[in-house]
Amino acid sequence: MEYHEVYARSLDDPDGFWGEAAAAIDWEQAPTRVLDDSDAPFYRWFPDGSLNTCFNALDRHAAGDRADQLALVYDSPVTGTKRSYTFSELRDEVARVAGGLSDLGVGKGDRVVIYMPMVPETVMAMLACARIGAVHSVVFGGFAANELATRIDDAEPVAVLAASCGIEPGRIVEYKPLLDSALELADHQPEHVVVLQRPQAEAQLVPGRDHDWVTWLADARPADCVTVAATDPLYILYTSGTTGEPKGVVRDNGGHAVALAWSMNHLYGMEPGEVYWAASDVGWVVGHSYIVYAPLIYGCTTVLYEGKPVGTPDPGAFWRVISEHDVSVLFTAPTAFRAIKRDDPNADHLERYDLGGFRTLFLAGERCDPDTLHWAERTLDVPVIDHWWQTETGWPVACNPIGIEPLPIKPGSPSVPVPGYDIRVLDDDGEEVNADTIGAIVVKLPLPPGNLPTLWNADDRFVASYLETFPGYYLTSDAGFMDADGYLSIMSRIDDIINVAGHRLSTGAMEEVLAEHPDVAECAVIGVADTLKGQLPVGFVVLQAGVDRDADEISAELVGMVRERIGPVAAFKQATVVARLPKTRSGKILRGTMRKIADGDDWKMPATIDDPVILDEIGSALTELGYPQRKG
Ligand code: COA
Ligand code: AMP
Repeated sequence: MEYHEVYARSLDDPDGFWGEAAAAIDWEQAPTRVLDDSDAPFYRWFPDGSLNTCFNALDRHAAGDRADQLALVYDSPVTGTKRSYTFSELRDEVARVAGGLSDLGVGKGDRVVIYMPMVPETVMAMLACARIGAVHSVVFGGFAANELATRIDDAEPVAVLAASCGIEPGRIVEYKPLLDSALELADHQPEHVVVLQRPQAEAQLVPGRDHDWVTWLADARPADCVTVAATDPLYILYTSGTTGEPKGVVRDNGGHAVALAWSMNHLYGMEPGEVYWAASDVGWVVGHSYIVYAPLIYGCTTVLYEGKPVGTPDPGAFWRVISEHDVSVLFTAPTAFRAIKRDDPNADHLERYDLGGFRTLFLAGERCDPDTLHWAERTLDVPVIDHWWQTETGWPVACNPIGIEPLPIKPGSPSVPVPGYDIRVLDDDGEEVNADTIGAIVVKLPLPPGNLPTLWNADDRFVASYLETFPGYYLTSDAGFMDADGYLSIMSRIDDIINVAGHRLSTGAMEEVLAEHPDVAECAVIGVADTLKGQLPVGFVVLQAGVDRDADEISAELVGMVRERIGPVAAFKQATVVARLPKTRSGKILRGTMRKIADGDDWKMPATIDDPVILDEIGSALTELGYPQRKG
């Protein structure tokens, strides 16, 4: 069937469409109803179905033809380790971790925070939670103690599973001191902390509260899968909101399993038994969906790569992993390819590897610039597919659906709406705009299965953040346009979220940190175009009257504060002291105009500006910092 037919059917007959897709999942109680719209705008999929997600990811394969097929391949150039697990081995490991969790008193509906790096035990921990119906919340290792504390207070976990360290090139990141500080900051205290000791750093354990991973599991008996409702939460994943308070995106069990299983073939063109590699991190949604759940549910082998695209040890790292593990499809962020291109523009490293089995490259997480897309196409000689999605959606919203019908590629566009998503582009008054006209990109409700049903403990915030601006539609907070062929282009966020190396960050949260510095009177943080990372945050601060300390010293303190409070992943390295910030006459800081000046884009003097001269001062400060960057 062709894409247009499939797409039309998904919107005309969602019950039939998703009801059929549900057959790919092994249910404990097969759903008799598909969409429950009785409590709109809170929609629920498969309301009377029950299942276990871990059973679908492991047990059903381990009990069948895939028992001896590799489920998980761990490849860690930063530790020089490789390990792999068949479906039956991984099922056994996960069952033991699940047993260990039960021994700690963790049960159905309890939360477990997982603060662990890219090691197999992290995947086991996630699946073990799913196995006993506990709700995991994985926190990315690049966040600071304060961010971890906020998440612990919101999720209120019974237990925290951690590792002693993560490994960044040239640096061991000790997780345990960060966790201990987070627990000092947090109001909520988990009853148990389990620590996986890695040889690169030994963590100090707190007697009575902390357990050593190996000792903990020594006597653990395997636990069986617990049946949960399709609508029960599988996990909470926190993502940047427009304030310092992250949003706890909730994922359910049934809709998630159905949507991910459907996506593996229809969007990614995978077949069970093949090898899929998402070069991301388990701390992000891409890691949840496409390192852990989707490939395993679909019976594919998944690769867990603890390394970087460059420097571990060279820009041939991705080619090595693809050839060594026979990867069919790779999914990563454009920034990874920009890094490889920067270090090896002619792809000389490729000559050492046989990529014969490699079929398709998928890119997402940030806008994919046509240069990077073309370089990847030329280098790999395979289709390069830009696709668009968000933590909230859990799986792609726009994609070239190669498993249904490969469509022509238009560089700069993540192609067409994915079946299930009724995408519209609206103006400020909520009217649909014409083709090629920029507006707010929204999805007409209901969102398809797999999308967030709500925010953790925050139904009101869910409605206020996503559903209130345009009633009847989900606000993606991305702006862009659709062309006459139905291809979308995602141009920018309409909020203060920026994308730094594919990581989603809030400039508002950074401003909150800067504002706490005693010498700062006011501040603005903007995302400035960067040739490697897509965007980088740059801070502007105005000092309190009477402060005459050295500006460089203050800047260094501000950079340190953001690293300390948000984490190294914010990549906040530039804070500059200015005399004044440009504002409208009503006092609104003109961040948009500042960004255009920083990026070297055309800009107009805002009619409402208070004092035009200030923009010259901002321009000079940016020139001193090296902006706009020379492109290319
Ligand atoms: N734990 C602790 N610290 C981490 C971390 C983790 N899991 N991940 C990143 N960091 C730190 C880095 O060490 C770096 O710290 P530094 O300021 O001391 O150097 C900082 O956070 C920024 O990291 P990163 O954005 O990774 O930049 P980089 O300069 O180290 O590497 C790239 C640049 C392009 C190689 C890298 O960004 C990359 O691999 N990107 C792929 C993007 C990706 O997978 N995105 C996920 C969405 S699909
Ligand atoms: P995250 O929730 O971290 O996955 O970030 C989601 C945001 O990243 C989206 O709202 C977009 O702003 C951006 N994004 C993701 N994929 C793309 C893409 N293919 N093109 C443009 N922007 C993207």
